[in-house]
Amino acid sequence: MYTQSFNVPDSAGLKSVPQAPSTENLEFQARFDSKVDADGKIEPQDWMPDAYRKTLVRQISQHAHSEIVGMLPEGNWISRAPSLKRKAILIAKVQDEGGHGLYLYSAAETLGTSRDQMLEGLHSGKAKYSSIFNYPTLNWADVGVVGWLVDGAAIMNQIPLCRCSYGPYARAMIRVCKEESFHQRQGYEALLVMMQGTAEQKAMVQDAVNRWWWKCLAMFGPPDADSPHSAQAMRWGIKRISNDDLRQKFVDATVPQAKVLGVTLPDPDLKWNEERQHHDYGQIDWDEFWATVNGSGPCNKERLATRVKAHNDGQWVRDAALAYSRKQQTHATKEAA
Ligand SMILES: [Fe+2]
Ligand SMILES: [Fe+2]
Repeated sequence: MYTQSFNVPDSAGLKSVPQAPSTENLEFQARFDSKVDADGKIEPQDWMPDAYRKTLVRQISQHAHSEIVGMLPEGNWISRAPSLKRKAILIAKVQDEGGHGLYLYSAAETLGTSRDQMLEGLHSGKAKYSSIFNYPTLNWADVGVVGWLVDGAAIMNQIPLCRCSYGPYARAMIRVCKEESFHQRQGYEALLVMMQGTAEQKAMVQDAVNRWWWKCLAMFGPPDADSPHSAQAMRWGIKRISNDDLRQKFVDATVPQAKVLGVTLPDPDLKWNEERQHHDYGQIDWDEFWATVNGSGPCNKERLATRVKAHNDGQWVRDAALAYSRKQQTHATKEAA
């Protein structure tokens, strides 16, 4: 998943500040610009402006963190899935998210940052991840709604990233998007089944939609007018579609899906605008969004503590892998001697 935090600066450390190129770099800069303008791909060995590299490291590492932290709200339901089929699907989905994190950490490493540096940023609270995961999954319908709406919003955000100017990121996103599409559909299908069930099941679905709808709209990031880095990211071919345009696409795509499902989207201002040929929608609570991004959401502390504990508990696995690799090297050296 998930991309809201892409427009959110980390608390400290990496900052993207576009800088004028020095004289000696002008030629490299011109080559870089023309490649980006021609929709070519920038590869790890190519020269790139420092600010482009820093922006990508920040964006890709935040994206990787979001995938890994995103495993937690749903992982919480694996032991309580209502059937073997739902359990198997959920295990596969949560595992996919772990895989997405790994591709993305690898893509960020090609820019000269290390896995340890990135994880240190996450574990110390300096690096951001998508704030959507700082909300709890309260009942089984939340698992379906996370698939339908959270993964659905993620796909909307991530499809344009398949055309990102940085090659390793774009290629990772092609594979990720294929899996996200499955995530979205399994969530929607789980909800369709619940909506054919008892009155209580239907009420659970509606309740989950009510709690997640506005948070999913906020996932696209602050309005364009409040996104100072967006123009530069567009210029660099990292970002292709603005936050507000993506949000509008998501609303327009989701309204008919909600109708088929039989749920109400919790927005009295949501209506078709014939003139714009889009849906109008109400005001997003940005104060709540920023409070959660900045650490005051209901699950921020729990999510971070769970991640840090999982990392520490896995130390023996890393130690064992390292010891094994050293042993293999020693054998190889002895055999060669
Ligand atoms: Fe994912
Ligand atoms: Fe996903």
